[in-house]
Amino acid sequence: MKKRRLKKSAIIASAIAALVIIVLISIIIFVKHITSSEYKLEKLGYNEKQVSEIIKLKKEKFFLNNDYNENYLPLMNEKYYLEKNLNNYLSYIKDLKTEKKKINYSDVISKVNVKASNGFYKNTKEADTKKGNEVLVNKFYYLTKDYDPGEIVDMSNWYAFEGRKIKKEVYDAFIEMHNAAKKEKINLIANSGYRDYNYQTKLYNEYKDRDGSEYADTYAARPGYSEHQTGLALDIVSYGATMENFDKTDAFKWLQENSTDYGFILRYPKDKEYLTGYSYESWHYRYLGKDLAKKVKDSGLTYDEYYAYYLDK
Ligand code: DAL
Ligand code: ZN
Repeated sequence: MKKRRLKKSAIIASAIAALVIIVLISIIIFVKHITSSEYKLEKLGYNEKQVSEIIKLKKEKFFLNNDYNENYLPLMNEKYYLEKNLNNYLSYIKDLKTEKKKINYSDVISKVNVKASNGFYKNTKEADTKKGNEVLVNKFYYLTKDYDPGEIVDMSNWYAFEGRKIKKEVYDAFIEMHNAAKKEKINLIANSGYRDYNYQTKLYNEYKDRDGSEYADTYAARPGYSEHQTGLALDIVSYGATMENFDKTDAFKWLQENSTDYGFILRYPKDKEYLTGYSYESWHYRYLGKDLAKKVKDSGLTYDEYYAYYLDK
C-alpha cells in the first residue's frame, strides 16, 4: 500500500518536473522569439520575404534602427548601391513620386551615383586630377582654365587631320591602334585631340550661337568641362566617313571590338544620355590605359558610373 503511494507521488513529482521543464523551455523559446531580429523586423512592417532578404544582406542592424521604408530593400538589392548615397536616393525618389514618375531603382542608383539626379552642371566640383589617367571630367567635374595636362605633342598627318595635338602617352597608344587596324585595312584618323580651355570656349560659343545653349549642351562641353582638355580624349573617324555616319563603318565596328586592347573606351554610348549628358558619339574615345579600359568595358557601365562606384574613393 505504502509502496504504491510512494510510486504515485514519484509519478506526480516527475510530471510536475516535466511540466516545469516544458514551461521553462516555452518561456525561453518565446523570449528568444520576441527578442529575435526576425520578430522585430516583422513588427516594423516587413513581411517574411523581406525579412529573409534583410538577413541575407546582413543589414538587420540598419533596418532595426530605422522606421519602415519600402525603398530601402529595392535600393540595397541593386548591384551599384552605395551606402553614402542613401539619403540622395531617397530624396530623388521623393521628387519622382511628387512628379508622379515611375520609379526604376536601377536608374535611381545610376543617376544619383553620377550626380545627374539634380540636373547637369549642378553642384559641380573641380576634377580630381591627381588620379592621372583615371581622371573624370564631365558635367559635374571640371578642369580649371590653367590646368596643365602634361606633355602634349603634335600628331603627324599620317594619323590625324592637320594641326591636331594629344598627350604623348595617348599618341603612342593611338599609333599602336592605328597600325593594328591598318593591318585589317581599317584607316583610323584623329579628327580632334587636345583642346585647351580657350579653344573649347570658342567652340562652345560658336555652337551656342548657332543652335542655342540647350541644344549645344547635348553635344558640346562647356569650357572647363570637356574631356578634350585632359589630353586623354580623341575623336576618331576614318577616311570617307563623317562623324554622323561613323557608326555605320567597318572602322567603328573594329573599334568596338578592339579599342580597349589599346586602352580606349567609347565614352558617350547610345541611350546613356541621361547619365553622360551627351548624345551618342560613336567617334569620341577616352584613353584610360589597357587594364582600366577593359574593366570598364566588361562592366557595361559608362565611365561616369564606373568612376562613381569603383574609383571615387
Ligand atoms: N563633344 C564632347 C562632349 C566635348 O565637347 O567634349
Ligand atoms: Zn570628342
